[in-house]
Amino acid sequence: MRYPARRRPRRRSVLLSDPTTAKLPAAPVVSQHPRRKEMFLSQEMTDDDEIGLIEEGDEYSQRLASMTFRQMTTRLPLLTARSVALAWRVDRPAVIGLLLCQAVSGIAEATGLLAMAGTIGALFSSGRIVEHLLAAWVSVLILVSATGLHAILGIVTNWLSSRLIPAVQQEAEILFLEATLNVELSAYDSPGFRDRKDAAERGAEWAGDLFSTGQNLIASAASMVAGAVVLAAFHPLLLPLLVIAGIPQGWAQIHAARTARMAFTSTMSLSRMRYMLRWHLSARETADQIRTGTMTPFLMRRYRQVAAGLYESQRRSSALGARASLIGAAFGGVASGAVWAVLIWLLSTGRLSAASGGAAAFALRSVASGTRGIANAGARMFRDGLYFQDWSDFLTEAGGYRINRGETAVDRVHEVQVECLSYRYDGAERDALTDVSLSVRRGEVIALVGENGSGKTTLSKLLAGLYLPTGGAVRWDGADTRDMDPHAAWKHTAVVPQDFARWPFTARQNITQGQPLPGGDKVIRQACEISGAGDVIDDLGSGLDTLLTRDWAGGEALSGGQWQRIALARAFYRPAPLLILDEPTSALDPRAEHRIFANLRELAQDRAVVLVTHRLANVSIADRIVVLEHGQIIQQGTFDELVNQPGRLRELWDLQNDRAIVPPQRDNQHTERTTP
Ligand SMILES: Nc1ncnc2c1ncn2[C@@H]1O[C@H](COP(=O)(O)OP(=O)(O)OP(=O)(O)O)[C@@H](O)[C@H]1O
Ligand SMILES: [Mg+2]
Repeated sequence: MRYPARRRPRRRSVLLSDPTTAKLPAAPVVSQHPRRKEMFLSQEMTDDDEIGLIEEGDEYSQRLASMTFRQMTTRLPLLTARSVALAWRVDRPAVIGLLLCQAVSGIAEATGLLAMAGTIGALFSSGRIVEHLLAAWVSVLILVSATGLHAILGIVTNWLSSRLIPAVQQEAEILFLEATLNVELSAYDSPGFRDRKDAAERGAEWAGDLFSTGQNLIASAASMVAGAVVLAAFHPLLLPLLVIAGIPQGWAQIHAARTARMAFTSTMSLSRMRYMLRWHLSARETADQIRTGTMTPFLMRRYRQVAAGLYESQRRSSALGARASLIGAAFGGVASGAVWAVLIWLLSTGRLSAASGGAAAFALRSVASGTRGIANAGARMFRDGLYFQDWSDFLTEAGGYRINRGETAVDRVHEVQVECLSYRYDGAERDALTDVSLSVRRGEVIALVGENGSGKTTLSKLLAGLYLPTGGAVRWDGADTRDMDPHAAWKHTAVVPQDFARWPFTARQNITQGQPLPGGDKVIRQACEISGAGDVIDDLGSGLDTLLTRDWAGGEALSGGQWQRIALARAFYRPAPLLILDEPTSALDPRAEHRIFANLRELAQDRAVVLVTHRLANVSIADRIVVLEHGQIIQQGTFDELVNQPGRLRELWDLQNDRAIVPPQRDNQHTERTTP
């Protein structure tokens, strides 16, 4: 189980207001430092409650947060094109249908408005209305047909949109996941990457909306053009006035969208924290520890603080948005008033007939709602475009961590050599490994030994080509891991990591990892026999077909050690020449552990085996033992050599075998007291 990385803040939290009076939750404080955002929630907190989120805001997120209207509008056409291309890819008939519907709908609306002038003229002329209406039957028929067609097209548009939007969203999510699977593992050590990934994930959710907003924009534009064509025929002055009336509203909407977006980027870390807390609070994996540790009050307090920080930011952003809308509405109202004043003036001065005035009023409403729709849809496109941009950028460069190594093909591995290797984690102040040199060949077992944090897991990940060295080199049969096609290379690795995955699939899929070998179940059974997973499978209700999770009906739960046997079977099943076992028997009982080590030499016959373990009795089977300390090799040799000479291994060995430090307690007094 992985817990979210938490760093200590470098300074104490800042009190935002008088602590004696303040009862409201504090908002996160975001420093103005261009390279660093710091967030602290402070009020009513004890030391334990302090939420120490320090975010290294990189240039990219700074740039995104401060994107201007002009920058966005220049990108919007490109983003819209990308969203249309996405829609085109998933459902071409729906895209064509939607575009056709919009075009025909606009024409129907314009025709209806024009027909309305004739109909209203008939209604307003003196004499019997029925006779006039009968005389103007063509106009009435056109008006009724156009209105009906417009309504039907609206329904078709809704149907096509609701079919297309989820498909676009799903495709955007799939593309996002594919991009995520194609990043260097080291990306996950960078907070900047996590921000971009979160933003892109959000962008994928909005991808469908960008397309539908584009639809609304087209519909509003069609409606506006239809009304404008009609209106221009009555009096050209009305048109520019209406357009001007829409501008303040558009400005207000865009302003609100930008404010909301800035609130989102500045609270991404808090959002992530809330998500993590929610997971930890509700997950099965932590449920027992929350209860036995009586952690509920602490965790809920923390959750409320994080939620309050987010709420505060959202509250401020919506207040700013509402203020902008108010200003926009005020200016828009004045402009609309002017339009109606002009219309009344045209009517009263006889420049417009009553019939034309009536039709113009309808056209005015049509243009006004079109302008309003354009402003709304434009602002929403601006907002969606900002998120979609995150998604699009992530796809293009995978958050800056796309795997971009060479193409050297790897078809076999006989030897892995490590030369003067050093590795430093992203943002770390010192190397996790320094100047490490060693090699492991097929047929050999090497054991990595050392105290916690000495660099064993890091080294095993570099050997597997999961990380690339920051200094020196790791070579597989002479080929540098930097130059190798990694996906081809990983076909040659079988790894049991310290935190192995417990896939919510069947036992069979957990072992084959979705890549069954030609031998069928026989090969699975062989791997299970070596790892001890055979006994586990035999006890399952549906054998290999049992679902290994209780989250669905029919699933079964395994113990920690049983899971480790499955993880080992997974590695032994894989016909890979490089076998890396990081603490592979930590949860196994003595019999199961004995079985693994009894079989390891045989497994090593056609494999290079790297074994990381703290149980030194087990390392005696290794051909060579490498002792690490603070990321450096301090000893190397066979078990007999190292255990018989002074040094770290001998020291650790003695400690592991020393059980005489704390003698068993003999409570003589108690015995005496209770003896009759
Ligand atoms: N993702 C990471 N980001 C930054 N530093 C890391 C990361 N993972 C490990 N480290 C640091 O690298 C050093 C070596 O860690 P590593 O996990 O390789 O140790 P280890 O020898 O496997 O320890 P253990 O016996 O506890 O498993 C430690 O100081 C650790 O803090
Ligand atoms: Mg480790």
